[in-house]
Amino acid sequence: MKIAHSEGFRKGKLFASILVFISIILAPNGLWSQGENLYKAKCSSCHQIEKNGTGPMLKGARQRWADAGEGDLIYEWVKNNAALRGSGKSKRANQVYNEYGGSQMQLFADLSNDQIDQILNYADSSSSKAAAPGAAGAADGKAKEDAAKEEGKGGVSKTWWIMGVIFLVIIFSVSGVRRQLKNASSESEPDTNATYWQEFKLWLWKYRAATGVTVLVLTISVLVLGLQSLGSINVMEGYQPSQPISFPHSVHAGQNGIDCKYCHNSVEKSKSAGLPTVNVCMNCHKQINGKTPEQQAQISKIYAAAGWDPNIKPAGGYTGKTSPIVWNKVHVLPDHVYFNHSQHVVAGKIDCIQCHGDMKTMKETAKVQKVEDLSKIEGNIKLTKPTLTMGWCIECHGKKEVVIDDKSNAYYDELHKRLKRDMKHYKHLKEDEKITVSELGGWECSKCHY
Ligand code: HEC
Ligand code: HEC
Ligand code: HEC
Ligand code: HEC
Ligand code: HEC
Ligand code: HEC
Repeated sequence: MKIAHSEGFRKGKLFASILVFISIILAPNGLWSQGENLYKAKCSSCHQIEKNGTGPMLKGARQRWADAGEGDLIYEWVKNNAALRGSGKSKRANQVYNEYGGSQMQLFADLSNDQIDQILNYADSSSSKAAAPGAAGAADGKAKEDAAKEEGKGGVSKTWWIMGVIFLVIIFSVSGVRRQLKNASSESEPDTNATYWQEFKLWLWKYRAATGVTVLVLTISVLVLGLQSLGSINVMEGYQPSQPISFPHSVHAGQNGIDCKYCHNSVEKSKSAGLPTVNVCMNCHKQINGKTPEQQAQISKIYAAAGWDPNIKPAGGYTGKTSPIVWNKVHVLPDHVYFNHSQHVVAGKIDCIQCHGDMKTMKETAKVQKVEDLSKIEGNIKLTKPTLTMGWCIECHGKKEVVIDDKSNAYYDELHKRLKRDMKHYKHLKEDEKITVSELGGWECSKCHY
């Protein structure tokens, strides 16, 4: 059975177009979702795509800066808008700042130009459907719902695209079989008994190279898509929600040396570390109202929350109108996980820096640190699994030694007594002269899961 020239040509064209088709739908999806994820994690609390909110709509922002002749400065703006305004080299920066009544945008020193491009690309390319999910405040629940619905639709349509491609491949293949069969029947005896499946197999065999490539491409695409979505599920690293007040740990725990426990006062006593109430802030801020306008703007939010009016004579006074500061939770574990601070900080003797990084130098609001960054810190146990995932907990429990002696850690007194009494029983612990958390049961599912 000979393949006609035209057949080879058609075959090439067919698979080339399938390849192009697949890469067209896959490539921008990957890039967009990067920009989309960043936008949702970092910007959507203040910016919507096509509507002004707390900040201006992001669609066309790049164009607005280019029109002002400051296309390059938009990156500096996003990274550190305060510095850009201070530098005096950007008119647009001051203009938009004034338009928004001096409300301040957060700093994003950790974003690269590429990442900012991805966000702005996403903003410019998304249609009105991709409304900002987080942008709508509590008062705007309806819009939020709509946005969520639209998002759902977007998700479905992606799946349909992929299904469509697979379907097309099948159709092409089948028509190929037909054509092939016709050619074959004119050359040799038609095999009337061949089932459809047998014919198909024959055809696949004939074009085995092309079939192989197609299967490979499809498998890789599915794997990439799958990994992309799996990889982003539950991985919290880098998560930094916006906060009602841009509270710098560097100023408080760093420069002013305030102890973590002054504000997170239950960290040694209970499961959760706790966040300070506005009264704790007022202990100092009744007197400290900030030097620069930026500081004053932030600290006046504390006053609003505490119901404090510094203008009441002679030294300020409470008005009685309070509204609590609602901090957004940064570190979040799912409900089915049990984590206890006192267990780690007191019994485990692990410093905050191991899990939260050096908060004393943290100029922005808190974020979930990347495990690579945590592992770079001197004195930290080196871990590799993403922070806050199960792998992270397990890895540390497998590595961290527990110090059991009479002096340093009362928590283990009872265990120590038992060890001395009955060494035989605990022989497995002593084999390598060290005891890890896992050997004491730190790998048992029920210790961490309700
Ligand atoms: C805490 C709220 C907040 C967050 C979070 C935020 N912004 Fe802003 N943004 C603002 C405000 C408010 C303005 C208006 C200028 C001002 O008042 O400082 C602004 C202005 C801008 C502008 C200028 C727009 C124009 O029309 O000139 C750009 C660009 C921008 N933001 C990008 C971003 C990006 C990108 C992110 C996410 C990485 C982000 N912003 C996150 C509040 C925020
Ligand atoms: C003056 C009070 C104060 C001090 C001192 C302080 N913090 Fe905080 N901390 C806060 C406030 C307010 C927040 C919420 C704002 C934020 O997330 O940035 C917070 C948030 C955090 C978070 C994130 C909480 C979450 O939602 O997951 C961590 C982790 C944290 N602090 C660790 C520390 C450590 C470690 C120290 C000591 C080196 C410390 N803090 C000292 C006030 C304080
Ligand atoms: C133990 C005293 C103390 C406590 C408690 C305290 N602060 Fe401060 N805070 C300071 C000092 C000191 C400064 C630096 C003021 C300056 O530089 O003029 C400051 C500055 C600030 C600034 C401006 C920082 C900047 O440079 O942009 C903010 C915002 C702020 N505090 C928020 C808070 C909040 C919110 C709380 C409560 C969770 C709080 N502070 C609790 C002492 C305190
Ligand atoms: C072994 C790792 C680990 C250590 C050590 C650790 N934390 Fe945490 N921290 C976590 C985890 C995990 C969460 C999230 C808890 C949750 O969602 O239930 C968290 C959450 C927090 C929060 C958010 C509020 C809360 O209670 O959920 C604060 C504040 C905090 N930690 C402060 C501290 C301080 C201060 C120290 C040091 C005294 C510290 N942490 C030590 C792992 C750690
Ligand atoms: C940096 C190392 C480290 C990390 C990360 C860590 N742990 Fe631990 N964990 C310890 C140490 C050390 C102990 C021993 C304290 C003790 O014996 O109770 C411990 C003990 C525990 C215990 C008590 C075990 C027992 O035998 O009673 C639980 C539950 C636990 N951790 C849960 C978690 C969870 C959940 C996470 C992740 C969110 C986590 N841990 C992350 C070091 C770590
Ligand atoms: C040291 C603490 C710890 C131990 C021990 C532990 N887990 Fe987990 N597990 C976690 C944490 C933390 C998460 C949440 C991870 C996340 O949100 O990414 C989790 C998540 C899960 C999930 C949900 C999947 C997911 O990614 O959310 C399952 C299922 C699970 N664990 C099963 C188990 C089983 C089965 C065991 C015993 C073999 C076990 N775990 C032991 C800490 C632990």
